[in-house]
Amino acid sequence: MSENSATLNADGMTVDMPVKSGTIGPDVVDIRKLYGQTGLFTYDPGFTSTASCDSAITYIDGDEGVLLHRGYPIGQLAEHSSFMEVCYLLLNGELPSADGLSEFSRTITRHTMVHEQLSTFYRGFRRDAHPMAIMCGVVGALSAFYHDSTDISDPEQRTISAHRLIAKMPTIAAMAYKYSVGQPFVYPRNDLSYTGNFLRMTFAVPAEEYVIEPAVEKAMDRIFMLHADHEQNASTSTVRLAGSSGANPFACIAAGIACLWGPAHGGANEAALNMLKEIGTPDRIPHYIERAKDKNDPFRLMGFGHRVYKNYDPRATVMQETVREVFTALKVKDPLFETALRLEELALNDPYFIDKKLFPNVDFYSGIILSAIGFPTTMFTVLFAIARTVGWIAQWNEMISDPGQKIGRPRQLYTGPAARDYVPLTER
Ligand code: SDX
Repeated sequence: MSENSATLNADGMTVDMPVKSGTIGPDVVDIRKLYGQTGLFTYDPGFTSTASCDSAITYIDGDEGVLLHRGYPIGQLAEHSSFMEVCYLLLNGELPSADGLSEFSRTITRHTMVHEQLSTFYRGFRRDAHPMAIMCGVVGALSAFYHDSTDISDPEQRTISAHRLIAKMPTIAAMAYKYSVGQPFVYPRNDLSYTGNFLRMTFAVPAEEYVIEPAVEKAMDRIFMLHADHEQNASTSTVRLAGSSGANPFACIAAGIACLWGPAHGGANEAALNMLKEIGTPDRIPHYIERAKDKNDPFRLMGFGHRVYKNYDPRATVMQETVREVFTALKVKDPLFETALRLEELALNDPYFIDKKLFPNVDFYSGIILSAIGFPTTMFTVLFAIARTVGWIAQWNEMISDPGQKIGRPRQLYTGPAARDYVPLTER
């Protein structure tokens, strides 16, 4: 491989392929002409070594535990920014001015209500339906309400769709929770922050005024920031692939929600807390660590490991600090936090986890905070989806805006039967 090309020798053929460099991070070998020149496909089922696109939104250095949003480190954003400001940054590429942020927040606020007809969708679900099932259905249905913003070739309509999705996700999520507990839906209020509005829509009841606890509002806003975007993860790649066919943004985000639900991805926060509850006390940790190491046991330490991070997930660091802040503010203690800290300590000193570079990820501590705030575990991935909507829609918009964008259509290594003739039923 030379500085800007890679040579492939295969089946007696020699092919030079260009090597492209980004701003930072690994270079890429441009294989787009490989099949045409050689009749060969590349093979990478889990996309462990495959870049699916160019993107200027988020950068992760998994070895160093670095996460940048438009160049800004997640630790600095978590400390100094707000979820609304991070939404603006992800969508527009630059931090807003004070006026720009106020105008953006006002715009989002004025889209937080949903069409009154949408509330009838909930009645079609059982009360014990998983809220992620409700999110898939209701968000997908949004495309039936907004025909005026589904022309994806129009940048203005793409912007309106982005604002509507970011604004309405908390309302739809809070309604899913209210429906599951048999309480009336609570309408959004324009005098509250994005996150304060969500907390009130979720936990307020008509019988009394809901008081937003500032420390909880700050922690929830930070949790939203930590989950906003994460380059080409499974759900973002799902949104991009759905969007590459020209599907409307509401349907694409519904596809992202469906993918996020999986326990290997966004469903891990719910699974991680359930795992900590199953472990219970620290004395039971060694037994579960041995199970996680046992190839014949499907049990894994949920909230541990990551396809990209082979170092500590910087979001987990902030999340652990946030647990302490919330516990202090709410004057609560949760023995599961001690169990989580002990589990992390034992795992990070175990050769299996050290050799495989398995560290806590964003999902390991988040459930402890969310539980302390009052969310049931079934709502954890819904909260992830609220936050990730801005990342999904920013990535979708980046793809649709690319003049070179094509429909995503992977190939395969075929392992089925070669051509054979039909056998009549009487001869089988
Ligand atoms: C998220 O991609 C993103 O950016 C996702 C995300 C985002 O913000 O969008 O960061 C959010 O999804 C975080 C990850 C949440 N998932 C979990 O916490 C579930 C538990 N983790 C694993 O399922 C796993 O670590 C994955 C799915 C996260 C990553 O899997 P990979 O990259 O495919 O790695 P792998 O499964 O091939 O594991 C490598 C080895 C394997 O052992 P060997 O086959 O090499 O012997 O490590 C082992 C695995 O068995 N391993 C674990 C483990 N995770 C991996 N063993 C025990 N416990 C674990 N948690």
